[in-house]
Amino acid sequence: METIAKNSILNIPKLRKDFPLLSKKVNGKPLVYLDSGATSQKPKQVIDAISNYYQTQNANIHRGVHQLSQEITIAYENARTTVQNHLNAAVSQEIIFTSGTTESINLVASSFGKKYIKAGDEIIISEMEHHSNILPWQVLCEEKEAVLKVIPINENGELHMDEYRKLLCDKTKIVAVTHVSNTLGTINPVKEMIALAHEKDIPVLIDGAQAVPHVRVDVQALDADFYCFSGHKLFGPTGVGILYGKEKWLNEMPPYQVGGGTIKTVTFKKTTYADLPLKFEAGTPHIAGGIGLAAAIEYVNEIGLENIGGYEHELLEYATLKLLAIEGLRIIGTAKEKASVISFVIEGIHPLDIGTLLDKQGIAVRTGHHCTQPLMEHFGLPGTIRASLVFHNTKEEIDVLVNGIQKAIKMLQ
Ligand code: ALA
Repeated sequence: METIAKNSILNIPKLRKDFPLLSKKVNGKPLVYLDSGATSQKPKQVIDAISNYYQTQNANIHRGVHQLSQEITIAYENARTTVQNHLNAAVSQEIIFTSGTTESINLVASSFGKKYIKAGDEIIISEMEHHSNILPWQVLCEEKEAVLKVIPINENGELHMDEYRKLLCDKTKIVAVTHVSNTLGTINPVKEMIALAHEKDIPVLIDGAQAVPHVRVDVQALDADFYCFSGHKLFGPTGVGILYGKEKWLNEMPPYQVGGGTIKTVTFKKTTYADLPLKFEAGTPHIAGGIGLAAAIEYVNEIGLENIGGYEHELLEYATLKLLAIEGLRIIGTAKEKASVISFVIEGIHPLDIGTLLDKQGIAVRTGHHCTQPLMEHFGLPGTIRASLVFHNTKEEIDVLVNGIQKAIKMLQ
């Protein structure tokens, strides 16, 4: 079942042992987990860090003079520094802990929107956005009578860059675009997109939820104004995520939620708010989440994102070739620059039926619209079957998938 990939320097069998759940059987078959795009499995290094926090460090942060509180405050702030270093942010105050990408985007849409968006302004997103990077902007546009502009895509699932250039104008107040499409796997040219927006002094938010497990992100090299991601897609826990924001924006933006932790002083007449990052972190945070996320980042860095990217590219090429050999199978999303995410449909068969029959064989894929209904509309599809691969997957697992699909087709035809 497991081999070391030929051209890879990664020891995949050894790495797979880090993930307890990968040895599970599902429906009596060895689990083949191809749904890391929905959520990644967790290595024991992350599970242990979370368990250790509850067993030996549990206390609230930023609130106590007692030893435990002091210690966990330091550990939590160290976790923030780990994220800062991972993204190469200039200062740790630019790292805001949130509950995930969705909350990070909502925070910016709400807070940036309150301050900077007015009637007639324009906000640019793209046709391949996840609903989480559509709805907050749509709501904002409705509230402020602003206009949502959408960058179209071509049939390969790549952004029309000429159309993007045309959309950027004096009315544009912010661009919000995904780094990697969760459905198509397309890696967007975000550095170029940011540079084009900056020529007109327009800030850019990048939804990095599907990028961070696959590619190294340097927010200073990208010159991103905001960069969002979730812990749980990066082998960390659910319920924790990150908003990176340039200090100059975050300082100017009003608090998103208010409450304990966000203030300097409160009287019934007036409240003054804390400096960054606490201004945006209302209430007791997901402390175990922050600790677990830092452990996940350390884990990934130990393996090396460049090694991960190289191996995943091999897997992507192998899977693409093997899948295309299945009669009637069509891959949706054939961009030149792709992460290891493959969406496909099979002529005459509903994706849900394939997904259900694959599950019976222990193979976990995602089926449906993947929270990208406008993208499905573009392709005229009700949904796709999506296999999202990460470094613990193997070519043998892809063979199991291909056999599984062939079996399912036979049963359904
Ligand atoms: N956004 C996640 C996915 O694409 C849940 O599956």
